[in-house]
Amino acid sequence: MHDGNGGKDDGDARARPPAIGPSGHIPVLLQEVLSALALAPGHRIVDATFGGGGYARALLEAGADVIAFDRDPQAIARGREMREREGWGERLRLVESSFARLYEELAERDLLPVDAVVFDLGVSSFQLDEAARGFSFRHEGPLDMRMGRDAAMSAAEIVNEWDEARLARLIRRYGEEPAAGRIARAIVRARANAPILTTRALAELVAGALPPARRHGRIHPATRTFQALRMAVNDELGQLRRGLVAAERALRAGGRLAVVSFHSLEDRIVKRFLAERAGRIAGASRHRPQLIAPPAPSFRLLKSGAVRPGAEEIAANPRARSARLRFAERLDAPAHDEGDGPIDEEFGS
Ligand SMILES: C[S@@+](CC[C@H](N)C(=O)[O-])C[C@H]1O[C@@H](n2cnc3c(N)ncnc32)[C@H](O)[C@@H]1O
Repeated sequence: MHDGNGGKDDGDARARPPAIGPSGHIPVLLQEVLSALALAPGHRIVDATFGGGGYARALLEAGADVIAFDRDPQAIARGREMREREGWGERLRLVESSFARLYEELAERDLLPVDAVVFDLGVSSFQLDEAARGFSFRHEGPLDMRMGRDAAMSAAEIVNEWDEARLARLIRRYGEEPAAGRIARAIVRARANAPILTTRALAELVAGALPPARRHGRIHPATRTFQALRMAVNDELGQLRRGLVAAERALRAGGRLAVVSFHSLEDRIVKRFLAERAGRIAGASRHRPQLIAPPAPSFRLLKSGAVRPGAEEIAANPRARSARLRFAERLDAPAHDEGDGPIDEEFGS
């Protein structure tokens, strides 16, 4: 999610420019995440989204052992190279898996419980910058957008196979795109002639479907549509909910959970999950009285709102603009039963 260039790692932690991975990938809210995790040497920390390894590097340098997950095999391969180069050895374990499975993966390796879990959601600049992955309208590539081998479908399948009404609902709901209906209509009309197979073809089609004022704004006209497709291809909201539940099961009492999100729908899921688990809101509908006593809180909120990046960080890394960090401490109550059903009946799982 993060790119640009930072500076050298020196001086006071708060004043210094953000550390960067070898890629020029700037980790967002890094110092805030480190302090939210209450690190101590020897702690066992799960980095649920390894990406460019920016968080993992900082955690290792602070003396923690890291179990890093990524569903993207390229991220894991990069992690192996970093481990070799830096001599981290067994202090960095790499797991190619979606974080929804983190509890099972840790159990299989006998690594439970853990001291902290951190999620840094979305895509990495590696994924955005590699044309062949099809994530970006800035690079010509196939309309793919799968983060890992476990994704059920590609963006091209959605664009060329879903009916107009379903496409419009997807683009409106996940992209929060006001012109979703016009875009869906344009897609269906265009694909009647030939399938839409590349990022540029889709980006141009979307731009052409928008009112002129939207075509030349600060944000690229296809941003919201691409985001909606990526979220559906990778079931990002369903993954997030399952990842949070898995983290709740994996953490020891007193352990920390920290989540950095970049999208209001993601942040809403995190906020709601933590509020429920902290006993701030009832899990059941407000129209239905609770028949049974709610479970004991499994988390304590350490801050009621979200932490946002400061102006300095946003100036150095514009992609940090929409970032929000929420964090909490695991209490010793058992993990709650997960009776919520799918996040989104139509698009999620
Ligand atoms: C924003 S990047 C993380 C950047 C990282 N914190 C750093 O400092 O370099 C997000 C990463 O999470 C991975 N990811 C996204 N959803 C995932 C999921 N459900 N399971 C595992 N990895 C996921 C992506 O493949 C991507 O590499």
